[in-house]
Amino acid sequence: MTKARCNDMFDLSGRVALVTGGSRGIGKAACIALAQYGADVVVTGISSGNQATVDEINRMGRKSIFVRCDVSNPEDSKNAVATAVKEFGRLDILVNNAGTATVEPAEDTPVEEYDRVMAVNLRGLFFMCQAAGKAMIEAKRGGRIINIGSIFGRVGSEIGASVYHASKGGIVVLTRALACEWAKYGILVNAIGPGFIKTEMTKSIEEAPELYRLLRDRHALKRFGTPEEVAGAVVYFASDASRFVTGQNLYIDGGFTAW
Ligand SMILES: NC(=O)c1ccc[n+]([C@@H]2O[C@H](COP(=O)([O-])OP(=O)(O)OC[C@H]3O[C@@H](n4cnc5c(N)ncnc54)[C@H](O)[C@@H]3O)[C@@H](O)[C@H]2O)c1
Repeated sequence: MTKARCNDMFDLSGRVALVTGGSRGIGKAACIALAQYGADVVVTGISSGNQATVDEINRMGRKSIFVRCDVSNPEDSKNAVATAVKEFGRLDILVNNAGTATVEPAEDTPVEEYDRVMAVNLRGLFFMCQAAGKAMIEAKRGGRIINIGSIFGRVGSEIGASVYHASKGGIVVLTRALACEWAKYGILVNAIGPGFIKTEMTKSIEEAPELYRLLRDRHALKRFGTPEEVAGAVVYFASDASRFVTGQNLYIDGGFTAW
């Protein structure tokens, strides 16, 4: 295969992507990488940095807008998808990146905290899939859904993140179920399970030397990853390079789950 043919497989020109939680971290890196490969990007989220992502994409010559969307509110998700279709004429790629965590001993986790994490990580992700899936089915062009899970959807840990584990575990099997259900519409659904990645979410871990060393050394590569190291897999799952891949969960984890 020539290099040009190989590059074409990753070309996203003319496609429209929607990314949840696009202001920073893995979500921002995903937005930028999708745009670098040619996609126009609807950046959604609840925090202030989203416009910076939009501006960076616009400077690259791609179209991008920000739509406020709290994924724990299914009406926001419906509105974000409708806005994408209205403003860009289509929606080809959904990246469910928005996520939140809690660290609390299982025996003391309050109901409110359980509900807060699930409302974003699993319930929110489901209803965003539903909104985007419906639009993709109606448009009859197929589509790609990429769910950001975690190594913690596969393995347990002793750090007091049981609710987070449960939410991310749910994503793995939900991804398989949607892949089976929507294959007939040409919608491919895959998940990515990052190891520990240097973002706001892991800042407090990096500031706790003992815990940091413990978790770092569980990666075979003995380091945390970067958001950009996750973004390559997003481009892969968004592109023709993965057109025979659905229902899978790819660990981008420096060997955390290889032991
Ligand atoms: N950083 C890691 O080590 C790591 C590892 C595995 C999985 N992940 C997952 O990657 C994803 C991105 O996390 P990150 O590391 O970039 O952390 P982050 O905290 O920097 O980013 C999370 C993003 O989600 C957004 N968000 C939170 N609640 C939201 C809501 N209700 N509606 C819309 N957006 C909301 C935040 O505003 C932020 O933009 C999350 O799903 C996280 O669980 C992260």
